[in-house]
Amino acid sequence: MIIMTRKVLLCYGSRYGTTTEVVQEMAKTAEGLGAKIDTVFLKKDRLPTSLLDYDLIIIGSGIQAGQWTKEPLKFIKNNLESLSKQKVALFVVCGYAGNPEKCDEAQLLYLDNISEKYPGLSPISTALIGGVFDFSKYNFAVRTLVKSIIKAQMPSGEEIPEKVDFRDWDKIRDWIQQLLQ
Ligand SMILES: Cc1cc2nc3c(=O)[nH]c(=O)nc-3n(C[C@H](O)[C@H](O)[C@H](O)COP(=O)(O)O)c2cc1C
Repeated sequence: MIIMTRKVLLCYGSRYGTTTEVVQEMAKTAEGLGAKIDTVFLKKDRLPTSLLDYDLIIIGSGIQAGQWTKEPLKFIKNNLESLSKQKVALFVVCGYAGNPEKCDEAQLLYLDNISEKYPGLSPISTALIGGVFDFSKYNFAVRTLVKSIIKAQMPSGEEIPEKVDFRDWDKIRDWIQQLLQ
């Protein structure tokens, strides 16, 4: 495979760490293919001084209550002019992506609506990535809320496992590989 995209910025937001793990796998895949990738957890890491050095900028977030984390949205808003000149790709990591009946809705709400909200942002690709429900990481209120939502969608009497992981690692690696071509 010939890699056309050499230098990649991957910036993201995550609340419970699922997206961080997804990003680590994306970075490993990209590096394995010969690209140089800078990953930036927008809540903590510093951004590079210029975005124009990159061949590709990937922006993503985990979803909670229908919302991206605030930092990637702020990043898009503050850098719209530079981003409108660059190749950009967007992804979200979310529970809906694990339910085939909810994928169209998630694509519209979490990805297409973001592109529409920020004129000039024209992603070359978007990815809807299945997330994780890990009840050991939630406080009591979140655990109770999320369990009740999931229970309502499950056949009655079935136990909710302590962790549900919808991530499709092959799909994640394939997406990155396609983006780099
Ligand atoms: C309180 C809570 C609310 C959530 N709301 C949604 C939602 O509205 N839509 C969705 O698709 N997934 C939802 N999820 C699932 C998350 O998107 C999933 O857990 C994802 O892996 C979170 O990524 P992060 O760990 O990087 O923040 C929710 C999860 C929690 C804990």
